[in-house]
Amino acid sequence: MTVPTHVAIIMDGNGRWAAQRGWARIKGHKAGVQTVEHILEAASDAGIRHLSLYAFSTENWKRPALEVGALMALLRMYLRIFLPQLTRKGIRFHHLGSLEGMPEGIRQDIRALEDATAANSGMTFHLAVNYGSRLELAQAARRCVEDGLRPDQVDEAALEVRLWTAGVPDVDLLIRTSGEHRISNFMLWQSAYAELYMTDLLWPDFGPAQLQEALEDFAQRERRFGGI
Ligand code: IPE
Ligand code: IPE
Ligand code: MG
Repeated sequence: MTVPTHVAIIMDGNGRWAAQRGWARIKGHKAGVQTVEHILEAASDAGIRHLSLYAFSTENWKRPALEVGALMALLRMYLRIFLPQLTRKGIRFHHLGSLEGMPEGIRQDIRALEDATAANSGMTFHLAVNYGSRLELAQAARRCVEDGLRPDQVDEAALEVRLWTAGVPDVDLLIRTSGEHRISNFMLWQSAYAELYMTDLLWPDFGPAQLQEALEDFAQRERRFGGI
């Protein structure tokens, strides 16, 4: 079976999952973190080399302060407890997104987890927090100017090395849960030729068996990259 090198997931539906049970949205986010742990394990076992998970977008700051605060607190807690699992599986942690505007404590925790796992040689776990593709592309363009590139030097390769995903292979399989059929500002550049897989399941209900189904579906796809 052809295993995708890079799988990216838009983890959506935590709020609806909680609402269905009459619970506060944050309970859905907590359940969603359990799913992250299970999917990390399953993706690593399946031989995926890069797993990118969309946890918080540049647009998610629009949510009520209470939810944003709770999400940041949850993120911080998990940045601290992920380490044993990452170490056991040899997973490298990498943050995607802007550190600007993020609480200082979280920045420190992100850097600490990146440093602590830097030498691991298994799968790379890219966690997208305060991530927006348009911001990423705009800052790559700005960096080209800062680096003094001439107009004829600004090409695809010049932009690629200035993205947060510099050096990471393109997304092969892009999964979205919760029944929404949209990209929501995630990996616009990197998903140019990604295979899309949308499921109606809400993120807390997505598990290793569902990941396996998505991988099997991917293996059946015929990719042409514009050729014949
Ligand atoms: C996805 O779940 C997680 C984040 C965006 C933080 P949502 O919170 O968007 O859940 P729904 O889409 O409202 O159900
Ligand atoms: C996308 O989900 C962002 C994350 C999963 C982090 P949203 O819930 O923010 O997306 P929209 O608003 O439904 O497009
Ligand atoms: Mg949502």
